[in-house]
Amino acid sequence: NWTTGNVIDEQVAAIRELVGDKRAICGLSGGVDSAVAAALVQKAIGSQLTCVYVDHGLMRKGETEQVEKDFVAATGVQLKVVDAEERFLKALAGVSDPEQKRKIIGREFIRVFEQAQAEIIADEGPAVEFLVQGTLYPDVVESGGGTGTANIKSHHNVGGLPEDLEFKLIEPLRKLFKDEVRMVGQELGLPEEIVHRQPFPGPGLGIRIVGEVTKERLDLLREADAIAREELTAAGLDRDIWQCPVVLLADVRSVGVQGDGRTYGHPIVLRPVSSEDAMTADWSRLPYDVLAKISTRITNEVSDVNRVVLDVTSKPPGTIEWE
Ligand code: XMP
Repeated sequence: NWTTGNVIDEQVAAIRELVGDKRAICGLSGGVDSAVAAALVQKAIGSQLTCVYVDHGLMRKGETEQVEKDFVAATGVQLKVVDAEERFLKALAGVSDPEQKRKIIGREFIRVFEQAQAEIIADEGPAVEFLVQGTLYPDVVESGGGTGTANIKSHHNVGGLPEDLEFKLIEPLRKLFKDEVRMVGQELGLPEEIVHRQPFPGPGLGIRIVGEVTKERLDLLREADAIAREELTAAGLDRDIWQCPVVLLADVRSVGVQGDGRTYGHPIVLRPVSSEDAMTADWSRLPYDVLAKISTRITNEVSDVNRVVLDVTSKPPGTIEWE
């Protein structure tokens, strides 16, 4: 008999028993999964848990602050924030190939995270023996961990763990689907914006810039993305769509006309999808007036963007993300 209360009680008891008087660490990504996993473990073992948040500079507008402030306020969790933006930008300089980008981001992420881990381990206190992961059932399946399905893209929260991993894993969400995870998060008192956050990939905006990732392009995409999110929220569409990647075609330019004359700017792609579990998806039939508003605002407010296009491809054949 599945209830969120049961899941929480069972997991809390199991985690307490497993961890004993040792310590655990958990990487927060800003997403629902790691937040709920961390909150659950925090409930079980309190200050024996330390969370690490790597700010790779590829987050959307306001997301880092949400973790640093709102999540900490709601849970009382111990949090270590590492500002690694410069390091990631440097590692990504000159790279346009999607898989290459994913590998670099995954690799740097692990290095920065391991460095933070090492610092926590070096603190006074009981041995750090456990690593908390917000792995969900669909992650397990899509990465080939469950059924032997081929790995389509390298999901760095599952496939990218170092081989000589010396931690024991705590994966309290491994049997749950996303909607169940949200219910658990709600029950744990997490802020609405975190519980109902739409999925966002680990490599962040790095895989939503088609072309090289630079600080300038990231800032531009962050603005466009914030506008799209704002309008979708204002229209009450957040719960209807699974997610809406906003993609910058940085290597494409097209001619436009605006104000006093000719422009030669970049297109922004809107990729709203509806889905049950991200394994398959359909493009969302968003109301035209909402699309019009987003398009007008993005082309007016984001410099260097003179065109907004809509992706009307389902998955398959398209994936949800462009890279
Ligand atoms: P695709 O693009 O494969 O995306 O259709 C399916 C879902 O997974 C998300 N996604 C990721 N999530 N690390 C993640 O944690 C990743 O590397 C990653 N790549 C894609 C994507 O946003 C969608 O929800």
